[in-house]
Amino acid sequence: MATRKSSSTSSAADLMPKQLTLPSLKAAAADCKACDLWKKGTQTVFGEGRRRSTILFVGEQPGNEEDLTGKPFVGPAGRLFDEALAAAGIDRKRTYVTNVVKHFKWEPRGKRRIHKKPNAIEIKACRPWLEAEVAVVKPQVIVALGATAAQALLGPQFRVTKQRGEFFESTLAPYIMATVHPSSILRAPDDETRRLEYRQFVADLKKLARVMSDKL
Ligand code: URA
Ligand code: SF4
Repeated sequence: MATRKSSSTSSAADLMPKQLTLPSLKAAAADCKACDLWKKGTQTVFGEGRRRSTILFVGEQPGNEEDLTGKPFVGPAGRLFDEALAAAGIDRKRTYVTNVVKHFKWEPRGKRRIHKKPNAIEIKACRPWLEAEVAVVKPQVIVALGATAAQALLGPQFRVTKQRGEFFESTLAPYIMATVHPSSILRAPDDETRRLEYRQFVADLKKLARVMSDKL
């Protein structure tokens, strides 16, 4: 059993279950208070997907709908992600999808909860969960969605705009690739830009599908 910690400075590493399985990790992370975000979010949104997946996708943090449902990438960005995966011929059910940070960070704007970027302390505090997910899933490739995930995995110098779609060797998995975050496509200033960005996103995912085709 994971022990409950009331301190917000405890480490996620202290909550690690002895037997690393996706259900045991999810249960342990439900009690995590390793950073202050547990106070803001409704619940821990752990990753979901197949236990052994070739591809592990990493987003930034859950959004409003993810916070309410407890599932990653189910809101507007998740729906666009699903559509793009289908267009690239990747079956989401055969992948694993998670986030760098597992609680929704937000600030109120009127009646809405507006997403706020996680900071370096929160990203570091949550890292043991991501590393444990990677240890169980053992992906061939980790795909960072957006700059927060890319920089957490590939270093602060990493530039998604310049280095998207390239495969990098890593200690976490044989390869890491980064692409844009689906919500950046939703934020495109006009329809034409949005269509273009969507096509580029699908192109990155198609490249991924091609490179991993013998392992999917
Ligand atoms: N954005 C993310 O980065 N992750 C989610 O799960 C949803 C939106
Ligand atoms: Fe724990 Fe991560 Fe939630 Fe912080 S964001 S409380 S480290 S699960």
